[in-house]
Amino acid sequence: MPVHALGRNTFGDVANTGNLMPIEEAHQLLNEWVPNERLRLHMKQVAAVMKAWAIEKEQADELTARKWELAGLLHDADWEKHPDAHCRIIIEELERRNIDPEVIHCIASHGPRYFEVEPQNTMDKMIYVFDELSGFIHAAALIRPTRYEGMDVKSILKKLKTPSFAAQVNRDDITDALARINTPLEEIIQFIIDKQKDVQ
Ligand SMILES: [Fe+2]
Repeated sequence: MPVHALGRNTFGDVANTGNLMPIEEAHQLLNEWVPNERLRLHMKQVAAVMKAWAIEKEQADELTARKWELAGLLHDADWEKHPDAHCRIIIEELERRNIDPEVIHCIASHGPRYFEVEPQNTMDKMIYVFDELSGFIHAAALIRPTRYEGMDVKSILKKLKTPSFAAQVNRDDITDALARINTPLEEIIQFIIDKQKDVQ
């Protein structure tokens, strides 16, 4: 059993459906739980990409888009302070706060190989797709003098085929995540570049 396996498949309470914390409160939680600015930025980037995807590709209403954003914003909130209990701590905190079960399930399924929770709905599948790729694309931006300016999809595809670049990013997870959706990798990469380039 992987060290981070959650050992369960249901999260939160359906009675809390639609119960979301304000985005400002989520930012406050991040500021308290995640001193590492780079890690905070990662979560903000995933949140921006998730929110934009919900609105532009899934025609989500405001509440649904906020669910996607909140899941992105909090998915690694416990990583820095509780690396050995990653995911379990933030899940328990959100359950304590009576947050919407879909948001909690989405966070719980963002790494099926680690947490042993399968992505179910589109929101779950997309956070799994975006998480590693978002970090990978940001790593690629950081080594470019012009950062995101002029970055193209082809250069990212090439780096993905270079195992030594951002070696900690698991290519198998990216392949597995993409196999669960119907959007080609090229389109996902372009979307991530466009939506996270201005996040601060
Ligand atoms: Fe992440």
